[in-house]
Amino acid sequence: MLDREGRTAWAVLSSQIELHQPYGGCVPELAARTHLSALPQLWRQVPPELLPALKALGVTAGPGLPGCLLAGVNFARGLARSAGLPLYGLNHLSGHLFSPFMPGGELSGRPVLFPHVALLVSGGHTELYLVRDLCEILLLGQTQDDAVGELLDKVSAMLGYGYPGGAMLESIARSWPGMTPAGRCEGPFAFTIPMKLSGDLNFSYSGIKTAVVRQVRGQGTPAVAPHQHPALLAALFDAVLESLWIKVRAAAEAYAVSLITVSGGVALNGFLRERFTQEAGRLGLPCGFPCQQHCLDNAEMMAWLLRLYYEAGIEPTPFDARSNWSPGPPAGVAA
Ligand code: KG4
Ligand code: ZN
Repeated sequence: MLDREGRTAWAVLSSQIELHQPYGGCVPELAARTHLSALPQLWRQVPPELLPALKALGVTAGPGLPGCLLAGVNFARGLARSAGLPLYGLNHLSGHLFSPFMPGGELSGRPVLFPHVALLVSGGHTELYLVRDLCEILLLGQTQDDAVGELLDKVSAMLGYGYPGGAMLESIARSWPGMTPAGRCEGPFAFTIPMKLSGDLNFSYSGIKTAVVRQVRGQGTPAVAPHQHPALLAALFDAVLESLWIKVRAAAEAYAVSLITVSGGVALNGFLRERFTQEAGRLGLPCGFPCQQHCLDNAEMMAWLLRLYYEAGIEPTPFDARSNWSPGPPAGVAA
């Protein structure tokens, strides 16, 4: 729940990470059942004195696992009907895209500037958008295979550092003396920059993942020993960041925008933040990130999106859950 100024008035989190850990990944049926039982329990925790001030409700309607989306959408429908409140079907990716403008984020307090170029980097997404308006969001490029977070998580699992791996790999790479705060690395390893010459705004990370696997297993080179992991990971971050930045820069120049944003779990990465801030500065552009707590999936960013729609006078219309859905207007509203 957000207050009038868009600050968090109340929030609660229910995590299923421990529930799915024994299975080595998310079990969709278990996730949906747990949503069904958790939602009423969470709602009962809402302080009753906050309820009369509510103006609108929002629910994530997609993209995501169908069973989980249905559980959420149906629960929210019941709440909205009983409370007599308008209900908005929200797009999870749009939630990430506007999170840098939230209180605590680097662009907080500024009006949302259009158009801007937005990079979304998470465990499931690596996408570049031209955000023309709250409801007009154009996909410029996307990964052709693995997402950046997925690459880091897979490399982490392979090297024995557990899941999710991005934060752990960052701290190991940071321990390499040849690594700068902006993630530029000097050392014995070097990777080809993925998709550098692709001529489009897409990304690809399966090739660099294979290159890491070959180095670690010693296919064609001596096998990488654990004490070499910092240098290897530093080189990996350097190449991945460069591959992201060259496409972001190309998009910012092609569309002559005056703002770049980065969101999603990988936006927590300190090398990425430093590198993008420096590089965007060279182009004379600000580059905005969400605050740390709004990088990973969270409900506050969805409430923020709802607030943006509400304040822009966008009316909600009936909608259904959508497991595949690109960012754009709220569900049921025509672009
Ligand atoms: O946005 P998010 O919660 O997940 C999806 O919706 O997919 O992001 C999770 C991803 C994981 O892949 C995790 O390894 C990555 O964010 N991540 C990081 C860091 N912290 C989390 N990647 C790089 N550096 C970090 N510090
Ligand atoms: Zn997400």
